[in-house]
Amino acid sequence: MSVSLMCKSVLGSRRAVHAFQRRFIIDMSYSNHFMDYKRSSIPSSMKKMMVMKLSPNFRQAVSVETLPVPTPSDTELLIRNRYIGINASDINYSAGRYDPSLTLPFPVGFEGVGEVVALGLSASSRFALGDMVAYLNAGAFAEYTLVSVQKAIPLKEPQPEALAVIVSGATASIALKCLGEIKQGETVLVTAAAGGTGQFAVQFAKMAGCHVIGTCSTREKAEFLKSIGCDRPINYKEEDLAATLRREYPKGVDVVYESIGGSVFDLAVKNLAQHGRLLVVGFISGYQSESGLQPVSGATIPAKLLQKSASIRGFFLPHFLSEYSDCVQKIMQMQEKGEILCAIDDGQTEKEGRFVGLDSVYRAIDYMYAGKNQGKVVVEVNPDV
Ligand SMILES: NC(=O)c1ccc[n+]([C@@H]2O[C@H](COP(=O)([O-])OP(=O)(O)OC[C@H]3O[C@@H](n4cnc5c(N)ncnc54)[C@H](OP(=O)(O)O)[C@@H]3O)[C@@H](O)[C@H]2O)c1
Repeated sequence: MSVSLMCKSVLGSRRAVHAFQRRFIIDMSYSNHFMDYKRSSIPSSMKKMMVMKLSPNFRQAVSVETLPVPTPSDTELLIRNRYIGINASDINYSAGRYDPSLTLPFPVGFEGVGEVVALGLSASSRFALGDMVAYLNAGAFAEYTLVSVQKAIPLKEPQPEALAVIVSGATASIALKCLGEIKQGETVLVTAAAGGTGQFAVQFAKMAGCHVIGTCSTREKAEFLKSIGCDRPINYKEEDLAATLRREYPKGVDVVYESIGGSVFDLAVKNLAQHGRLLVVGFISGYQSESGLQPVSGATIPAKLLQKSASIRGFFLPHFLSEYSDCVQKIMQMQEKGEILCAIDDGQTEKEGRFVGLDSVYRAIDYMYAGKNQGKVVVEVNPDV
């Protein structure tokens, strides 16, 4: 059996590269059927961000390339991306720190939300053309992305809030539950608390009945933290973090959700309570450097941990995939019921305007690294779709 698909480009003059091209896909194999999406116009080529040179400087490492729109295999979906999510680790990925076996050039971007515009035959038993999905998959910084059925999460609407959940929300939920073992009445310190993952750590710790302290760099962020239940926002630009912790929490904190690294990590170790748990979620203050690291006071750590029977626990989301699907479903249901806030930040207060179009990924990453974001940073790839 063969299926043929003809896709006419209707992009007109807006994108010269697509103009008036007609695309024919004739697939004779059983395993590679391509479903026809009559309402859709799938161009022959698209914009996709590719890492061309390894560097934590995203602008130097990554360029926007024009590449063919790929054809889905039997079990894949072709997603036309509407929104994509920015993660602090996008620059770790462009520096080649995630997977040293990757060879240049390679695609970048971890997560997207969009519409199914083509799919393989087996994939059609679970999804239909026009369905909206969210996904966690390498290569999201593109106009179109291939995603295997297993990685696609069905959505009722193309909401950018879903992007806050699939990495940032899942990380906070799983880390606090599995490694933090947070209990009612404990004190939890969240660093970068107003950011993509920090906002969830604050809310989950509060829901667990903990006293929550959150660090941030502006008054607006401190107000935002109060609004999501943070008991003690600390704007470290106005208050000395070390002195505040020493004065207000002399017994130390039970759990730290730590993502800054360097001197903040050292302070967190120093301020752990007896049996305290420090969760190393990240160390963003080092990511822009050549090594990706910020020095810490390593030699004194064993003594500090021993004196308090405390522990330091590393967390990396891909190591907790058994928890992942249930966790994401649960957070999405909570969001639907209004039980949790998934704040997103599309840069609308920026002078140059909202993050719209693939090229604005560069601006969005700069914005996050300037500490300007409140909530999860998202880019709208194509509002016309
Ligand atoms: N382990 C995992 O599986 C996993 C998964 C997701 C995220 N993470 C980690 O979680 C952390 C937050 O990531 P995110 O994507 O959600 O980012 P984000 O929190 O939305 O944005 C980063 C925030 O970090 C704060 N920051 C403090 N010092 C900074 C510095 N020197 N440079 C840049 N930012 C600084 C800024 O907030 P203030 O200005 O308010 O301090 C900034 O807004 C990162 O360390 C990331 O690697 C880990």
